[in-house]
Amino acid sequence: MKEKILVFDTTLRDGEQSPGASLNVQEKVEIARQLEKLGVDVIEAGFPASSPLQLEAVQRVGAESGAIVAALARAVEGDITAAWKALQQARKPRIHTFIGTSDIHISGKFGSERYGLTLQEKRKTILRMAADAVAFAKTFTNDIEFSAEDAGRTDPGYLAEIIEAVITAGATTVNIPDTTGYTWPSEFGEKIERLRNSVPNIANAVISVHCHNDLGLAVANTLSALQHGARQVECSMNGIGERAGNASLEEIVMALKVRSDLHNFCTGVVTEELYNTSRMVSTFTGIIIQPNKAIVGDNAFSHESGIHQDGMLKNRETYEVMTPESVGVPRTSIVLGRHSGKHGLQSRLLALGYKLQDAELEAVYRRFVDIADKKKEVYDDDLRVLMGDELTRPGS
Ligand code: KIV
Ligand code: ZN
Repeated sequence: MKEKILVFDTTLRDGEQSPGASLNVQEKVEIARQLEKLGVDVIEAGFPASSPLQLEAVQRVGAESGAIVAALARAVEGDITAAWKALQQARKPRIHTFIGTSDIHISGKFGSERYGLTLQEKRKTILRMAADAVAFAKTFTNDIEFSAEDAGRTDPGYLAEIIEAVITAGATTVNIPDTTGYTWPSEFGEKIERLRNSVPNIANAVISVHCHNDLGLAVANTLSALQHGARQVECSMNGIGERAGNASLEEIVMALKVRSDLHNFCTGVVTEELYNTSRMVSTFTGIIIQPNKAIVGDNAFSHESGIHQDGMLKNRETYEVMTPESVGVPRTSIVLGRHSGKHGLQSRLLALGYKLQDAELEAVYRRFVDIADKKKEVYDDDLRVLMGDELTRPGS
C-alpha cells in the first residue's frame, strides 16, 4: 500500500508573488478549477489581509472548491480574522499562519520599542506569538497550518521548541520552509529527520515542506525531505514564486511517478492534466515558460540531433524517461535542423504524405541540409516547398 503525499499548491499565493505576475479574481477562480481537476489536495488561494481583491479571490475559490482551500495570515489577530472572513463559506477551510523564526528574521521584526531585549527574550516572544496565533486560529476552524518562515536558517533546537509549542496549541500541519532556498538536499533532509526525532508531539501533525529555488535546489530539497518524513509538499505550477520561485509541482510529481522504484509514495495528481495547467498559468500570469523547462517546456520532448532522432524512431525509451502523453503533451515533436539525420527527415516526410525511394531521399536530404544550414529550424512548410520544388525539377 502506497503512502499518499499531500500536494499543496501555492500558485495562487506564493506564485502570484512572482515579479510581474498578477491575477484578477476570475483568473484565480479558473486556475483553481483547473488545479482541482489536476487533483491537488490543497489550494492556497491568497493572503486575504493584503487586499480586498485577495480576500474576494479566497472567498470565491473556497466557496466552490472541493479541495482544501488555505488562506495565509501573519501570526497576528487581524490577519487571522481576515483569513477566516475569506474562508467561512469554504467547504474545507484551512488557516495558514506564519512567523519568521531565524535570528535574522526575528531581529528584523523587533523595532526600536523592543530595543534592549536579548536574543533569548526575542525568541521567547516569537514562540509565544506563534502559539497564540495558532490557538486564536483554532477558535475558527480545526485545520490549522503553521509555517516557521526561514526554517532553513533557523537554529535547530529553537525550531524544535517552536514546532512543539504550535502543535500543542492545535496546529495540524507544521510547515518547514526553506524560504531563502539556502539549504542543500542532505542538510534539509537531516533537518526534517531531526524534528521527527526531537519534537515529542510531532506525530500529531503532518510535516510539510516549502522550498524556494534560489540555488536551483527546491525540488531536490523537497524530495530529500520526503525521504526523511515530510508528507506534504508545497509547490507551484511552472515553479513560479518569489525571486527564483518555488519548487515546481510538475517536477516533484513526475520525479515521484517516474522513479516509483525508489520509494513507496503516491500523489493524487492526474499527471495528464499537467501540461494544460501549466499553459493556463503561463497565459494568465504572463510568465513565459523557458523552452528547456523540465516536463512542460517546449523542448521537453523534442529531439534534434540525428542520433537522438534515429534512436527515438526505433524506441522512444532511448531518450525519453516518460511519455509526452503522460503529462498531457499531445505528441513528441522532432525538431528538424542542421543536426538532423536522414531517418528523422524521412519520418517527417512520411507523416506529411511523401513516401520516397532511397535515391530520392538521398537527393532531398542534400537539399534539406542546405536549407538547415541557413535556418535554425526546418518547418513542415519548408519541407512542403522543398518537396514541391523537388517534384518539378528536371529528371524527377
Ligand atoms: O517562503 C516562505 O517562507 C513562505 C511562507 C509564508 C510559507 O512563503
Ligand atoms: Zn514561499
